[in-house]
Amino acid sequence: MKRARSALNLSDPVLCHTTAATGTPATRIAVLVSGNGSNLQSIIDHIEMGKLNATVACVISNREDAFALDRARKHSIPAHYVNHRSFPDRMSFDANVVALLKEHQVNLVVLAGFNRILSQVMLDAFPKAILNIHPALLPTFPGNHAQRQALLHGTKIAGCTVHFVDSGTDTGPIIAQAAVPVLDTDTEETLCRRILKEEHRIYPGVIQLYAEGRIRIEGRRVFINSGTESANDFLENPHF
Ligand code: GRF
Repeated sequence: MKRARSALNLSDPVLCHTTAATGTPATRIAVLVSGNGSNLQSIIDHIEMGKLNATVACVISNREDAFALDRARKHSIPAHYVNHRSFPDRMSFDANVVALLKEHQVNLVVLAGFNRILSQVMLDAFPKAILNIHPALLPTFPGNHAQRQALLHGTKIAGCTVHFVDSGTDTGPIIAQAAVPVLDTDTEETLCRRILKEEHRIYPGVIQLYAEGRIRIEGRRVFINSGTESANDFLENPHF
């Protein structure tokens, strides 16, 4: 008997695509943030430079003072503050966010420094359509303060990872990674800055691949269907 593919079953090959792949207008993305929003800025800049065929349909923050909200407003992007403390639990907060995302007709949810763990409510509403960027070469150093973890561990190479979001913490299938060296003179701040520079490069690149319908998941492995770039184009070898 043919098994029905559940929303979260990653074991069968799945071509991730959005309306852009079927010839209709730019992918509508929502960027979920909690802080500075430099990744949001990089996405906006890539769109404005014509390098990313997407529209930021809305920005949602669970923190009122997130600078990312100011960045959105400056570019006339609808910016919403949803206070997670006003909801009794994670699921009702997520249900509220999902309603907003539907209202803005979002196809792809992009987490960029969003400090909330997603519940099944959000995962079910956007199957294989939620991306995250993490400032480490996963599966090493998941969770908070990844750059600090890398320094404390004494690793010589650090980096960042764009991955699909699943129910774990930074455990979803990896789409692209970029590596940077860890220098003897590094502080947490200098390492963060070096990694961020790579984040700003690979995140818009992956979103573009998604918008083109070229990302395919087989089990835990993610492949980029043919075109001008492959996932390897995102790899950056550390140079000293
Ligand atoms: C980035 O380092 C990202 O990898 C992590 O949170 C940070 C967000 O930075 N998830 P910004 O708000 O985009 O500047």
